[in-house]
Amino acid sequence: MADFTVPAGLDVRVIVAMDEERGIGKNNDVPWHIPKDWARLKELTMGHSLIMGRKTWDGIGKPLPGRTNIVVTRQSDFKAEGAIVVHSVEDGLTEAVKHDPVAYIFGGEHIFKDGLKYVDKIELTEVSGTHGADTFFPEFEHNFHEVSSEALDEGSHHIRFVDYERNA
Ligand SMILES: NC(=O)c1ccc[n+]([C@@H]2O[C@H](COP(=O)([O-])OP(=O)(O)OC[C@H]3O[C@@H](n4cnc5c(N)ncnc54)[C@H](OP(=O)(O)O)[C@@H]3O)[C@@H](O)[C@H]2O)c1
Repeated sequence: MADFTVPAGLDVRVIVAMDEERGIGKNNDVPWHIPKDWARLKELTMGHSLIMGRKTWDGIGKPLPGRTNIVVTRQSDFKAEGAIVVHSVEDGLTEAVKHDPVAYIFGGEHIFKDGLKYVDKIELTEVSGTHGADTFFPEFEHNFHEVSSEALDEGSHHIRFVDYERNA
């Protein structure tokens, strides 16, 4: 939708965890288990809207509590209990602003590709190593710059929380 404008007052962000080959998913699941990252995701997204693809919705299997779950699908008759169903990322943003001033583009690969152009902030978790991913996060580094980061370890995983903002 070339002429779409993000609704006034809506702060649109991405939250994503990505490995060293930009991998984000495998077999419709996240290919690592890092409780500290999941806890951070919960803290950052609580109360806000999450715009996710139908496959990510299926992978999670239930609405994430305390947040407005918005599922994007091309299926006209798709039902998602506990979520709002829309048919584009743009319709997801139009719906999100009715619920909260912050909306997260929540993945997966297809939805990140469609939604990244509307985002001003990326809350990235870098995950060490590669994990045989079959879905990937798009290149974004040319349009964004790092504003803060924090490194930590969990089990065998070295992770780094990195916040990016869109270049002026
Ligand atoms: N590491 C992370 O931070 C993270 C975050 C989120 C997801 N993931 C992973 O990402 C993987 C899923 O990614 P994915 O790319 O395969 O699937 P996805 O983006 O979650 O969902 C794709 C589906 O969304 C719908 N869709 C996509 N573009 C659309 C459009 N323009 N208009 C209407 N509907 C549209 C279609 O649903 P229909 O087929 O129903 O029409 C499509 O099949 C999983 O492994 C998941 O675990 C990782």
